[in-house]
Amino acid sequence: MKLLLKIWRQKDANSKGQIVDYPLDGVEEDMSFLEMLDVLNEQLINKGEEPVVFDHDCREGICGMCSLQINGEPHGPDRGVTTCQLHMRMFNDGDTIFIEPFRANAFPVVKDLMVDRSAFDRIQHAGGYVSVNTSGNTIDANAIPINKDNADDAFSAATCIGCGACVAACKNASAMLFTSAKVSQYALLPQGQVEAVDRVQAMVAQMDAEGFGNCTNTGACEIECPKGISLENIARMNREYLSATIKG
Ligand code: SF4
Ligand code: FES
Repeated sequence: MKLLLKIWRQKDANSKGQIVDYPLDGVEEDMSFLEMLDVLNEQLINKGEEPVVFDHDCREGICGMCSLQINGEPHGPDRGVTTCQLHMRMFNDGDTIFIEPFRANAFPVVKDLMVDRSAFDRIQHAGGYVSVNTSGNTIDANAIPINKDNADDAFSAATCIGCGACVAACKNASAMLFTSAKVSQYALLPQGQVEAVDRVQAMVAQMDAEGFGNCTNTGACEIECPKGISLENIARMNREYLSATIKG
């Protein structure tokens, strides 16, 4: 395949960025999107030019590091996959592909296609944990009976990999899908009840402090989420928040 890549290049957070054209030949349909970018970067390095900076780690859909806006969609045109799982067979010979960083005020550009998503870490640190007795009398987690539906929903919420596609997809740059997944995974389990009131209030406060927008129920986040995190989690977080506010 022969492609025309239009890639966002930006020196650092304070510099102005721009789209730069990169024609690329010899792309195989079995390559992943990141492998295609590796080929481009090899060519740039061989020519003495600066390679395109982009985030990645596991390259198997579990770490949440890869984060590209491809033709206007977070993680590109496929559904239920991350950028590293996206294959070039989703594109056609002769295509022009726009590649940009995830855009949100709370995700400042570090360089080129890499953004700083540490705002998510700070939301998680605000309340995404449970108290565990480590005195030597620790109760085996499997000894606590848990309703099967709750266990399944908690597990589904816990599959959020913190990639940020929900924020990039949202016209308000809202982080409600991410935060609600993290709140839900504990709210549904008995182990999560000890800090439940403080957790939802602290995580929502941190989300707001980071400058993410509000949720206006458009649902783009759920469509673009590579892990199929459901909007039901946002409804659950809103109920948890209301309940926590009443309990004080
Ligand atoms: S909710 Fe989905 S899109 Fe948002 S951070 Fe988690 S996995 Fe990524
Ligand atoms: S590189 Fe880990 S999810 Fe894509």
